[in-house]
Amino acid sequence: MAAENIYPVFDRIYDRKVKEEILRQRARVIWFTGLSGSGKTTLAANLEKELFFRRFFCHVLDGDNIRTGINNNLGFSAEDRLENIRRIAEVSRLLINTGMITICSFISPTREIRNLARSIIGEMDFIEIFLNPPLEVCEQRDTKGLYEKARAGIIKDFTGISSPFEAPANPDLEIDTSKLGIKDSVDLIFETIIDRITL
Ligand code: ADX
Repeated sequence: MAAENIYPVFDRIYDRKVKEEILRQRARVIWFTGLSGSGKTTLAANLEKELFFRRFFCHVLDGDNIRTGINNNLGFSAEDRLENIRRIAEVSRLLINTGMITICSFISPTREIRNLARSIIGEMDFIEIFLNPPLEVCEQRDTKGLYEKARAGIIKDFTGISSPFEAPANPDLEIDTSKLGIKDSVDLIFETIIDRITL
């Protein structure tokens, strides 16, 4: 019998609801998508600060950190980006099952990739925020000097230059960060998510 040596422990593992009650919040994934230089990392960090200030418990997962750790064997081919996001979505799901509000900051450039994340995390728990400044602004900012290298052909498959970015069709929120500053953006995000993270 297949189940012979399996000992379910559901009666000993507290479920997400109990954890959310202890943390006095609802767990959700706040998923930032947008080009490199669109402001994902900055807004994720500032949103975390704001949430802590308001006594919400959260954690940021960010592209460059994850790619030096759990995903350090992945590159930027379409296949590797999909696998990058699949693992991140699985980790996010583990985190929301602990009651944690999880802030994800990844380019996640295609509809296929974001649909995969949404389906792993679950429609109800997935809040999509699209940062949408013009490419020229991201390129001007060029915080990491990567656009220059991409234009020179030193970096291949660079999103927005030599690899596609597909805008989300129906994000929960879209912000042009070339027009709206950090504080106003965080306020707007907070307004958008407050009802969904409040118990
Ligand atoms: S994703 O496309 O798979 O979602 P992710 O957000 O994890 O990308 O990583 C993006 C970060 O990797 C960028 O912020 C940038 O610093 C770095 N990077 C290095 N090479 C590339 C590339 N070819 N395209 C995009 N980002 C790159």
